Amino acid sequence: MALTDFDLVLFGGSGDLSMRKLLPAMFARDIANDLPASARIICVGRHDWSQEEFLATVESTSKPHIKTAPNANGWAKFIQRIVYVSLNATDPATYGPLVEALRKDDAVTRVYYLATPPHLFAQICDNLDNAGLATPNSRVVLEKPLGRDLASAKQINLEVGKVFAESQIYRIDHYLGKETVQNLLALRFGNILFEPLWRREWISDVQITIAEKIGVGNRMGYYDTSGALRDMLQNHLLQLLCIVAMEPPTSISPDAVRDAKLQVLRSLKRFTPTTLAQNIVRGQYRAGHVDGKAVPSYREEPDAPQKSSTETFVAIKAEIDTWRWAGVPFYLRTGKRMADSLAEIVVRFKQIPHSIFNQPTSSFQPNSLVIRLQPDEGLSLNLMAKTPGDSMRLKQAELELDFREQFKTPRMDAYERLLLDVLRGQLTLFMRGDELEAAWEWVEPILDHWEEDDSVPIPYSAGTWGPAAASALIGRDGLQWREEALPED
Ligand code: BG6
Repeated sequence: MALTDFDLVLFGGSGDLSMRKLLPAMFARDIANDLPASARIICVGRHDWSQEEFLATVESTSKPHIKTAPNANGWAKFIQRIVYVSLNATDPATYGPLVEALRKDDAVTRVYYLATPPHLFAQICDNLDNAGLATPNSRVVLEKPLGRDLASAKQINLEVGKVFAESQIYRIDHYLGKETVQNLLALRFGNILFEPLWRREWISDVQITIAEKIGVGNRMGYYDTSGALRDMLQNHLLQLLCIVAMEPPTSISPDAVRDAKLQVLRSLKRFTPTTLAQNIVRGQYRAGHVDGKAVPSYREEPDAPQKSSTETFVAIKAEIDTWRWAGVPFYLRTGKRMADSLAEIVVRFKQIPHSIFNQPTSSFQPNSLVIRLQPDEGLSLNLMAKTPGDSMRLKQAELELDFREQFKTPRMDAYERLLLDVLRGQLTLFMRGDELEAAWEWVEPILDHWEEDDSVPIPYSAGTWGPAAASALIGRDGLQWREEALPED
């Protein structure tokens, strides 16, 4: 669907997200000819910069993040779309230049992208409203973190909701923009094959891992007040869980999909103080080696509080109380400074009931479906197959679908896709307010428990798969994380 003309306003326009992700994403869509000729990007920032000074910053800070092949004409055309507006987002008296800059034409869609700390969301929406800028043809995009607990998330929903209708609010979770996440929808609901098996009778467990080799780097100010549970699990991991576990929605329309996801979030088994201690492991990285390079511990990173007890790793055994999923463990895990950088979902099926071969049932690897989000995008279905030769020996073999190999069409990064969706008015890949609150509701007892509890995260060496307790968590159910269970060659 072609885009109609728009003014995209980036609050936090000179910040890290705009420079690293948003402007490069818009550039990529521009040279792909997706943007209408007169579409503009209005970058709002506090600095008292001239247009030329801002463009010089874009050149030095944002351009290096562009992955598309350099294209001098394309770049020159792109920066003509950019307008810099200096204002103090919290001061209503400074909104005049933004009013001036925006086109007063109802046919031009307005998008306000709030790439700012969440405590500013309410005030910015209020200021936009008072300046007469919250028109019916405008949309607002909220970047994570969307609150730091249930109360603050509710507050954001309430305050933003006073100015914008729910259908105008786009809550971003960039994991939903990843190619493979949508491929998971295609896999589940575009094929007949998996749906009959996609339930407790045939699935033994599901593992969802987002592991990163990187540490906290220069984001300590934010990260130390957040931690892995708030930064990754409450949003990205739970969204992936929803897509894996949801009932078939009646269509791909925003509310059909979001209703189905909400049902999963509301069916997550609540933790009690006892089950919390048994089903959650939190860790913090110590010094170690990543890719053969020595790296410091979390507490030695720049600006780290000496005795920080912020978790950089979390593993959780979750359960979904529904007919489809009762009793199936969903193991969720994420961490920084891990042995590898990857994001994947592993759906493991049950063991065959009886072996007709001269091999015990226990020698059969249960079938598994591995859905890889990154670094490469694809899926593999692990099956038992006969090894060539005379004897009837069975061994695990992989049926591999590499999306890059299969479809040679150019890729789109998550932000490119999500920005296009906002500009098109397509809400399916964005979280609805009630989903956000349901996710926080489930996470809240964990946060409360950690707050009251004086135990601290378990140390793990950088460059490993996290604390040994995470292996014990899954091991208690007689299972292993995928990397622990990989057959030796
Ligand atoms: C962000 C987190 O939401 O996701 C970061 O704040 C994390 O801490 C990042 O590094 C991971 O995203 P991706 O797309 O690189 O896997």
